[in-house]
Order: sequence, then C-alpha cells, then structure tokens
Amino acid sequence: MDLQLKGKTALVTGASMGIGRAIAKGLAGEGVKLCIAARRKDLLEELAREIAGIGGPQPDIIEADVMPEGAAERLAAEAYKRLGHIDILVNSAGGSQPALPVDAPESKWMESMMLNFIRVRQLTHATLPGMIERRWGRVINISGKSEPERLIAATPAKAAVHAWSKGLSREVGKHGITVNCIQPGRIMSEQIRRKYSPEFRAKQSAEEIPVGRYGEPEELASLAVFLASPVACYITGAVLPVDGGLRRFAF
Ligand SMILES: NC(=O)c1ccc[n+]([C@@H]2O[C@H](COP(=O)([O-])OP(=O)(O)OC[C@H]3O[C@@H](n4cnc5c(N)ncnc54)[C@H](OP(=O)(O)O)[C@@H]3O)[C@@H](O)[C@H]2O)c1
Repeated sequence: MDLQLKGKTALVTGASMGIGRAIAKGLAGEGVKLCIAARRKDLLEELAREIAGIGGPQPDIIEADVMPEGAAERLAAEAYKRLGHIDILVNSAGGSQPALPVDAPESKWMESMMLNFIRVRQLTHATLPGMIERRWGRVINISGKSEPERLIAATPAKAAVHAWSKGLSREVGKHGITVNCIQPGRIMSEQIRRKYSPEFRAKQSAEEIPVGRYGEPEELASLAVFLASPVACYITGAVLPVDGGLRRFAF
C-alpha cells in the first residue's frame, strides 16, 4: 500500500529510544522529513545516521528536555524553524515510575502529570495553528494502558491524554486534522528493561499476554506510521491498544 507520506514533515518526541525511535525510523522509511527530539543528543545522532543509512531524508536533531517551564512552546517553535511546517506530531516522550505510597510527596504526582500530560497538550496546542492553516495534520499520542493496578502516577496522566485527545479530535476534525492515541502494552524499551526483570517478563508473558511475549517497538510503529498517513483520514478520536491482547476489557 502506498501510504502517501513521501514529502511530509514530522516532529517526533522521545525519539532517542524505544517507541519514539522506532516510529521516527518508520516515518523516515516512508520519506518523511523529521525533527527528532529528546535529551540525549548522542542517541539522536546515532538515529540520524541510521536513517541516512536506509536512504531516508536527513533528520534535524533537537536536544531538549520537555520539563522546564516553556519547553513545549520552545520545542514547537524550533521545529517550525527547522521544518518550515509540521504535518505530523508524534508525542512519545514520557514514562512511568514505580507505584507510589498514599503519602507520596505531591512533587511525584506533579512530575508525572507534567511529563505525560501537560507538556504533551502544550506542545500539541503550540503545533496546531500551522496545521489548521494548512488544513491538514496528524497528532499521535503514545499513551498507556488504562487499568490502574496500583497507585502509578502515570496512569491518571495517560487517562487525561485520552480525554483531552478525544475533545481535541472533535474540535479539529473540520480542519483535516486527526488526533489518536496508541496504548502500548509491554513493548520492549529502555524503561521496560529497567523496570521488569527477565524472570518477571517471562512469567507475565506466559500468564497474561495472549500472544505469549512482549512486543517490539517496530510492531507499534507500523500502526503509528499508518495513522500518520493520509490513508488513515477517517480514524480520529480513537484509543488503540498495541499490547498482544494484554488488556482484559472489550470496550
Ligand atoms: N513500552 C511500553 O510498554 C509502554 C507502556 C505504557 C506506556 N508507554 C509510553 O510510551 C512512550 C515511550 O516509552 P518507551 O517505552 O519507548 O520508553 P523509553 O525507551 O524509556 O523512551 C522514553 C523516551 O522519552 C524521552 N524522554 C523522557 N523524559 C524526557 C524529558 N524530560 N524530556 C525529553 N524527552 C524525554 C526519552 O529520551 P531522553 O531520555 O533521551 O530524553 C526517550 O526517548 C512513553 O510515553 C511511555 O509512557 C510505554
């Protein structure tokens, strides 16, 4: 299938590792000109070399921490400067920490809300005016599974992403812009390797994941690339799991 992505532009956050990196590579493989952003410049440079190696357009690198005040707006402005316009925004920067006790300091909750929701919303809103002007755009948010097993601060932040995305999709559909969320379920990445031992992963794969293993970032990236394409113009306001069947509820 021709995804009609050649010549489009994209800003991908969290592109230094894991899911964001795989999506960046997938888009570049379809001829998308990228701005790749994260804190670790050396990893972004390595990705840029890999993209050049597969014949993709040379990506622009933006070394940026999204946490400081105003970081989202600065990142959007820098990406506009480098790319001229932004057709596709992939929000993949994020992460979760171990479960919190009920008396955890407020800062732990605020930190997760800032990284996983507030900066995502701010970056998207700063990117949207150009998309609205050009009457075309794609916003893809990498969220998380919404089953709150314990007090994990990222869970309500990701739920906020789902609720905001839905509202936004209803607002900007008339401008040719779609907004979707992908819920990764145990996709092998830096944070997953850090949090779950090989023994835990094997046990969970056998007991809870119908396909019997953790997924690879590329297995999620293929959906993101499809959603980013003009071909996916009628899919918006959706929350789509890529989790090997881990999620237990049907709706
Ligand atoms: N893998 C899963 O199964 C899973 C499950 C649920 C949700 N998710 C979500 O999927 C997304 C991607 O995660 P991943 O699993 O691919 O994790 P990962 O390999 O740890 O990648 C996280 C990415 O986010 C970037 N990042 C983190 N904090 C940042 C900051 N303050 N400023 C700028 N960039 C920052 C990291 O880059 P630098 O460190 O270089 O800045 C990195 O590129 C996240 O939003 C995560 O919450 C993943």
